[in-house]
Amino acid sequence: MGDGEQSIYTPALFRMKRYLITGASRGIGRAIAKKLAAPDIALLLHGRDIAALAETCREVEEKSGKVTKLIHDLATIRGVNHLVAAVGHEPIDLLVNNAGITVVKPFTEVTLDEWQQTIAVNLTAPFFLMQHFAPQMPPGSSIVNILSIAANHAYPNWSVYCASKFGLDGLSSAVREELRSRKVRVLNIYPAATDTDIWKAVQGEWPRERMVSAADVANAVAYAISQTATVAVENIMLGNLSGSL
Ligand SMILES: NC(=O)c1ccc[n+]([C@@H]2O[C@H](COP(=O)([O-])OP(=O)(O)OC[C@H]3O[C@@H](n4cnc5c(N)ncnc54)[C@H](OP(=O)(O)O)[C@@H]3O)[C@@H](O)[C@H]2O)c1
Repeated sequence: MGDGEQSIYTPALFRMKRYLITGASRGIGRAIAKKLAAPDIALLLHGRDIAALAETCREVEEKSGKVTKLIHDLATIRGVNHLVAAVGHEPIDLLVNNAGITVVKPFTEVTLDEWQQTIAVNLTAPFFLMQHFAPQMPPGSSIVNILSIAANHAYPNWSVYCASKFGLDGLSSAVREELRSRKVRVLNIYPAATDTDIWKAVQGEWPRERMVSAADVANAVAYAISQTATVAVENIMLGNLSGSL
């Protein structure tokens, strides 16, 4: 290359892709971060637990172009707004709405606080994150929503969780239609029971060997977003071959 000529790979023309993953401090979110880490990706990793999120960052930093830690409570609109502000004005290329909680008990025993927290984290936060980020997302970018088989099957004692995930399913499907013309894909992942810490809060014996792994869910996410920009793998149902628990 002669003097004065510029390579098309000069830093000035290169924009690192920015991926925001909520709930990346453990479980499925951490596995997604590990799977998607790459030198040309800036990972924006969100969680609440400072030590756990630092561990995720430690595990991905060698493979990642850049890693940013974002500590915010998504149970409050204030926390959602602070996360939005911390991500800044530069567009993101992937939003993974993964952070989630569960409450498992008879619906007659669910408290107002449990109802509000679950709906806030599992449904309200994804809504406002999509509403804020989608308009600036470039064509070919993706929103991934981590739903659950409890987004279209009802289970006794899982009323609040089902309400939040059925709600997110409807929300996500409607937003998908609004974003189609802008070539932003909305991809829904519906994992069955997955071997993560979320089960520690659920009473009873749950056979971990009959669950899928967080890495299996991360593989599904990577597959969905790696399709050519005109292809949308819109819904992935994912479970252990042995059947439901
Ligand atoms: N495990 C399953 O069987 C299963 C099956 C289907 C779908 N899912 C869905 O997969 C997603 C991830 O679940 P997981 O199994 O990986 O659970 P997990 O290991 O308990 O991780 C949950 C993540 O969500 C974050 N989170 C929880 N409450 C939050 C809040 N108020 N504000 C901000 N972040 C919050 C946690 O952050 P901190 O730990 O830092 O607080 C953590 O990073 C959830 O949406 C869940 O509904 C799970």
